Amino acid sequence: MRRPTATISLLSFLMVLAMGVAAPRVVAEPEAAAGEGRELFVARCSVCHSIDYIEMHARFGTRTLWEASVTKMRNAFKAPITDDEARQLVDYLQRNYGPTRAQRTTASSSMSNTSVAPGLTAGGEPRSP
Ligand code: HEC
Repeated sequence: MRRPTATISLLSFLMVLAMGVAAPRVVAEPEAAAGEGRELFVARCSVCHSIDYIEMHARFGTRTLWEASVTKMRNAFKAPITDDEARQLVDYLQRNYGPTRAQRTTASSSMSNTSVAPGLTAGGEPRSP
């Protein structure tokens, strides 16, 4: 699958370089929510997809849903995560990407995201189809 946006990205990347602001990762990688477990989360969950991807595709579920997600990553995609790490990751996810956060984000957001499910556009990023 060829995407024309790749060319555009490359061009803007070169422009950024030309301007002497050579820091592409600043643009590319969004911050994971701060808090205990953050490092483990970034280390284990940004291997195959970005953290951004998790925020955009998360259903902002309960602990059970996050457990299911982490189990799926481990079983279906062979994510190298131990039982102990999985527990810590679910704790972190529930705390930082649970329904409470989704509500808070939606409530405090000044951007108009009224017609989408809560939290899905919390980052204000356009979603790819
Ligand atoms: C070994 C690679 C790998 C790792 C590590 C990994 N994922 Fe994934 N993840 C995937 C793939 C591949 C998909 C796309 C699945 C699809 O499209 O059906 C995905 C999709 C997702 C989705 C979208 C919803 C879904 O269930 O498809 C979420 C949420 C998610 N990952 C969360 C996580 C979390 C949280 C972690 C860390 C515990 C993690 N991922 C680590 C491979 C990985």
